[in-house]
Amino acid sequence: MKNRIIILFTLVSLFAKADEGMWMPQLIQALNISDMKKNGFKLTAEQIYSINKASMKDAVAIFGGGCTAEVISTKGLILTNHHCGFSSIAGLSTVQNDYLKNGYWAMKAEEELPCPGLTVTFIKRIDDVTTKVFENIKPTFSEIQKDSAIQANIKVLEALAKKDSHFDAFIRPFYYGNEYYLFVIETFKDIRLVGTPPESIGKFGGETDNWVWPRHNADFSMFRIYSNKENKPADFNNGNIPYVPIHSFPISLKGIEKGDFTMVYGFPGKTQEYLTSYAVDLLINQQDPIRVGLREKRLNILDADMKKNDTIRLMYTAKYAGVANYYKKWSGEMIGLEKSDAINKKKKQEAEFLTLVSADPKKAELYKNLFIEFKRTYTEYAPLSKQFDYFTECLWGVEAFKFSSAFINVFSELKLKQQGKENKFDAVYKATKPAIPFKNFNKETDRKICKAMLETYVANIDREFMPRFLDSLLTVHNGNVIALTDFLYNNSSFVDNEKAKAMFSDFEKNAALYERDPMYLLASSILVHYQKTVIPQIGYYDRQINELQKVYMKGLIENVKTKKFYPDANSTLRVSFGKVADYQPRDGVAYLHYTTIDGMVDKNKTGLEDFYVKPRLIELFEKKDFGQYADKNGKLRIAFTGSNHTTGGNSGSPVINANGELIGTNFDRNWEGTMSDVMYNGDFCRNIVLDVRFTLWIVDKYAGAGYLLNEMKLIK
Ligand code: ARG
Ligand code: ASP
Repeated sequence: MKNRIIILFTLVSLFAKADEGMWMPQLIQALNISDMKKNGFKLTAEQIYSINKASMKDAVAIFGGGCTAEVISTKGLILTNHHCGFSSIAGLSTVQNDYLKNGYWAMKAEEELPCPGLTVTFIKRIDDVTTKVFENIKPTFSEIQKDSAIQANIKVLEALAKKDSHFDAFIRPFYYGNEYYLFVIETFKDIRLVGTPPESIGKFGGETDNWVWPRHNADFSMFRIYSNKENKPADFNNGNIPYVPIHSFPISLKGIEKGDFTMVYGFPGKTQEYLTSYAVDLLINQQDPIRVGLREKRLNILDADMKKNDTIRLMYTAKYAGVANYYKKWSGEMIGLEKSDAINKKKKQEAEFLTLVSADPKKAELYKNLFIEFKRTYTEYAPLSKQFDYFTECLWGVEAFKFSSAFINVFSELKLKQQGKENKFDAVYKATKPAIPFKNFNKETDRKICKAMLETYVANIDREFMPRFLDSLLTVHNGNVIALTDFLYNNSSFVDNEKAKAMFSDFEKNAALYERDPMYLLASSILVHYQKTVIPQIGYYDRQINELQKVYMKGLIENVKTKKFYPDANSTLRVSFGKVADYQPRDGVAYLHYTTIDGMVDKNKTGLEDFYVKPRLIELFEKKDFGQYADKNGKLRIAFTGSNHTTGGNSGSPVINANGELIGTNFDRNWEGTMSDVMYNGDFCRNIVLDVRFTLWIVDKYAGAGYLLNEMKLIK
């Protein structure tokens, strides 16, 4: 009886509650469609994913390196976030034509700007290849033999799927390697910028508002996919034509209300929902605090220098945003996990799991040592993880170390060249050599960072673990970090514009001299040290942990029959469904589920730099010319929150209503909910969505590019 009560309890606390989950689109029919319908979804699973007919999946794409975009017209027009288009927009900008600052809108096809290197990828097909990946694996194989057999099978299967088509294919593990799926993909390479609002709108709120609700930025930009005359991918060519998509999203102007069904379709990057208490303990009590602390030191130095000097500010804005983004995310995650007592919750889940399998002696035996093994592994892993974090976030926070150590390859290729052997010197040199004068690097700022980082490093890493060359340099300088840093920055050719110019003018001839540069010597010895000691060990423990997680995951799936398990995010196509939802961030405070332009104007009135907008926006606001984009009460909404389970990579994802129409673009999560990568909580984890009506208002009324609406299908 007691057991039964515990088991019932298990079902409540162990597993995904409503709205949690990032589901594989090809399994919606089998796993989710009835839940979705209960929540209001009106279409079929086949309309979400089909390999025979046009479906929504044909309008959802991987944008660039790690974002999502959606097709919104029959002429290959795509919508994504401003922060996803950021690097392409920056790349097209010059001082005279600063599209980040001023925005940009093509008023006709010829004005659409090619973005070199930018790609857009569609998923053609997803197949379960688990059995094939495990073919010819004998029970007698060691873990390493198993691994290499799996990799060999994967290679064959990927090549087979690709054959002589223009498609590509890759296989990814799911559920920690309990299952494998094959993705056949089509990548377009001629992508052109159609338009972007100015940064003051696209990134309104800057770092102040990042990860925070209520939110007022119109985080969007638009691009177009071009294809050859056969509608197939092609490199940039003036003769290319707009791609005709298999599916494009109709756009709803009807608006949303609290409780309405929402679905996010995109490419979430990484979640770790099935971690054990030991991993969460390490995360909250060691990893997050170390990373956050180190980033905070770096950000403070950058911030002070950027405030003092406009040139430095421009040099470091993008870098600052990058460092600040996960600094803030990890801080929120830490607080959220602590506040929700995550370690104890995980402990309870582990105990419940053991109780559940204890009914069957065979299973009890199988899982008897599982958590003991987890504990042992994490205990051994923790000191290595600390060293690894101090390498990546502390030493590698010093830019001079990072870029001078990259010359290891240059010197070794040059040696081959000088010995008359086959070599890649020219290519490697060209790829490694920075532009001089340095584009986004200020020697004095980096010197300050180096001092702070070395000080922290020396104070926290035991001497025995230190790279030997660093230790001896410190000894030479009587343990004085400041003196050591000054010695490096005063003497190195790698950080000084004048010296670097001279170095790169006679690099080949005097390479032997530059190979003895103190900055290079130190940085390369640090890199080699970590590559030889810490990194392989980290790899070893990562594999151990993965093996244990694989067993735990299999145990959960096989034993908890009442529950469906979704695989952790791994940058593959997923569906999250939920609803438009508000939340209560803390006792006595309730947030509304949407914001309007009124709030944007209020924030602007504070005069704070992050809330600057151009006068044109205020003028339009005062005219109240919101037209068909206004909500029923006449207000112009900007953003809304939903209970969809999302993560990094979901940025730019289409947010879809019950009829399969686009209602917004996903772009962030709330501060209180950043823990959702480790433990989603439906009560307060929220995704933040840009209301598509605000997007269209900006395109039409602010930018005067309303002609683009003619190619969209608007549902009024
Ligand atoms: N927090 C958002 C997501 O991870 C967007 C960040 C871009 N904006 C910024 N202000 N840094 O990626
Ligand atoms: N802002 C994130 C992204 O760029 C989304 C998130 O982490 O919620 O993908």
